[in-house]
Amino acid sequence: MSKYDPGKTPTPHNSAKAGDFAKTILLPGDPLRAKYIAEHFLAGAKLVNTTRNMLGYTGTYQGKPVSVMGTGMGCPSMGIYSYELINYYGVENLIRVGTAGAMTEDVHIRDLVFGMGACTTSNYPDLYRLPGSYSCIASFELLRKAAEAAEARKLPYRVGNILSSDMFYNPPMPAAGTDWASMGVLAVEMESAALYSNAAYGRANALTILTISDSLVTGEATTAAERETSFTDMIRVALDVAEKL
Ligand code: HPA
Repeated sequence: MSKYDPGKTPTPHNSAKAGDFAKTILLPGDPLRAKYIAEHFLAGAKLVNTTRNMLGYTGTYQGKPVSVMGTGMGCPSMGIYSYELINYYGVENLIRVGTAGAMTEDVHIRDLVFGMGACTTSNYPDLYRLPGSYSCIASFELLRKAAEAAEARKLPYRVGNILSSDMFYNPPMPAAGTDWASMGVLAVEMESAALYSNAAYGRANALTILTISDSLVTGEATTAAERETSFTDMIRVALDVAEKL
C-alpha cells in the first residue's frame, strides 16, 4: 500500500479533489478516449478533472469504483499525471491502455500485448538517480489477472518487453528488426517506462495493455473499424482486471 499526501491536492495539473479518484484507474493517452470509456463502459461516471482538457472521470464497473483519465503522449506527460495520481491521490492500480507499433514479424496488427517490462530511450527512469539502470517492470498481480482475462475472453495476447521511445518520428533507423527486436522487444509506444518507474517509487501497481495499431516491420496498419474492435477488447480486459482488484 502506498503512502500518499492528499494535502498536495488539487495540483497544478489536476483539479480533482482528494478522494475523487478510485483506487484503480485506466489511463489512455488521449483524453477523448477517457471520455469515451467513461461514457460507454462505466456507470454513473462523474467528471473530476478538466485542467488542460486532460479529462478524468470516476464511475463504477460491475459495482467497483473505477477511474479513467488521459495522460498525454510521452514519458514526461505520463510522468506528471501518474506521479500525482500515486503520491497525492492515493491511486494504487494504474492500467495504461494504448496503441503500439509492432517491432517483430510475429506481432500482428490488432494483437494484444501486455508489457511485462519496458525498455526506454527516455531519460525518465535515470532521473531517479540510481547507481545503475533500473528495469521497468509491470505488476505481476495485474499482469496475471490480465492474462487470465484475455484467456477467458479467448483473445490472443502476447506478454513481453516493450520499448518506451521518446521519438515517434525517428530518423532513418537500422533495418527494422535489427536493434530492439534482436533482444525480443515486441512493440514500441511512448509512456510505460515513466509509468512503471513511478509506480515502483510510489509502491503502486502498474500494467500497460496495448493493441498493435501498425507494424514497423511490415508497414501494415489497422483500419478505423479494426481499431474500434481491438480498442473495445483492450478496455474489456482492463476492466476485467479492475473488477478483480
Ligand atoms: N511509435 C511510437 N508509438 C506508437 C507507435 C509507434 O510506431 N505506434 C503506435 N504508438
